[in-house]
Amino acid sequence: MTKQSDNTPQDPAVFPDNFLWGSATSSFQIEGATATDGRGESIWDRFCTKDGAIADKSDGKIACDHYHRYKDDVALLSELGLQAYRFSIAWPRVFPDGRGAINTKGLDFYDRLVDELLAANIAPFATLYHWDLPQTLEDKNGWVNRDTAYSFVDYTAAVLARLGDRVTSWATLNEPFVSASLGYRTGEHAPGRKSLPDSCAAAHHLLLAHGMAMPVIRDLAPQAEAGIVLNFTPAFAYSDDEADQQACDVVNGFENRWYAEPIAGKGYPAETAEALGWEQKEIQAGDLETIAAPIDYLGVNYYTRQTIRGNQQKAPQTLPLTDMGWEIYPQGIREILTTLHERHNFKKYYITENGAAMPDKADEHNFVDDQDRIDYLHNHLQQVSQTINQGVPVAGYFAWSMFDNFEWAFGYEKRFGIVRVNYETQERTPKASALWYREVAKSGVVTRHNDSSA
Ligand code: FCB
Repeated sequence: MTKQSDNTPQDPAVFPDNFLWGSATSSFQIEGATATDGRGESIWDRFCTKDGAIADKSDGKIACDHYHRYKDDVALLSELGLQAYRFSIAWPRVFPDGRGAINTKGLDFYDRLVDELLAANIAPFATLYHWDLPQTLEDKNGWVNRDTAYSFVDYTAAVLARLGDRVTSWATLNEPFVSASLGYRTGEHAPGRKSLPDSCAAAHHLLLAHGMAMPVIRDLAPQAEAGIVLNFTPAFAYSDDEADQQACDVVNGFENRWYAEPIAGKGYPAETAEALGWEQKEIQAGDLETIAAPIDYLGVNYYTRQTIRGNQQKAPQTLPLTDMGWEIYPQGIREILTTLHERHNFKKYYITENGAAMPDKADEHNFVDDQDRIDYLHNHLQQVSQTINQGVPVAGYFAWSMFDNFEWAFGYEKRFGIVRVNYETQERTPKASALWYREVAKSGVVTRHNDSSA
């Protein structure tokens, strides 16, 4: 296939032979079994008990019951021909109190999961922290407390000592922006706190935790790759007005540059720090060097774009929306990747999450003919293909999510899965999108011109 030099999306889009096709989940969103085998309480268990915190008043106690059904779930990954699986490890399973004594049974679960994946020839991509902080650490001020970063390093060492010989790829953190900002500034996520200075402190300690954990991963798993997963939501100014432009710069600085730039060794965006009034008193000598530890890859999570208007006004949305009310903007995935690569030249990128909640309707067989989700995946993958053709080293793609699951503050109302989960019976049924994605994974070719709904 000849490469096009312009940016017209191609169909079919042909991916390199060694491109990895996977799907992603996270511990709290699928595991359930929150009180089993010695697991401690996490901030999400606690948050779910707060009035009004979760839209459907649900919690993670059962979720997809993956803790008990992991064998069947791995079999399903295998049936779909997926080559890699991104999951996260629940810190409170390993250290019920955040630090101190290891709960061996908690590690045993991930040991079994990793072995099951390897036996099915699926590469394990493990994330150490996908938001489920042990509640005991939150009781000591959570990520606002620098000590939490040191506890994270101990936790990393314990996990790596057990699984370091078998996991293909490690990520320290998932979306520290969301942990810091929704957890400590807007209060929409656990632990539900609302303070801008606390959220800036949390952001710094999360990055510090990442930077301190990197050499531990390298020591204990020299053959594995190690990186971090960040989310990007490109922001566009509503108009040329100065107020809109300025507001947009702050959002881009706070969301899209705040984490990538320190990791790339460039420190925090100074003008954004100033605009936010962050005094930076948490930064100690050597921290920025620690945070800039070289990474093997950057994990990029991408879902949507945002339009920003100054003076507290809301910008209208103009593009089609997913069931989350998020605008569908496929070229954003390319824009983000090419910009990151131009600015920071990271060695390699994975799309660690991309996908859509859609208003799924299941038939009497639990089957969902989600042509809208196929369109979403197809259109974004076309853009990923263009990005690769433009010379950006993108090595794999993980559809979010393998299963419908606990979508944080939205509970089970929003369904992102390529596999339908019937929460009453726990039955799993691949949606049309999963069958379509199976063809993609098998052939390395992304096209809308095949019959995938059969
Ligand atoms: C990301 C999260 C993931 C999921 C998707 C929809 O921000 O990493 O757990 O909730 O959004």
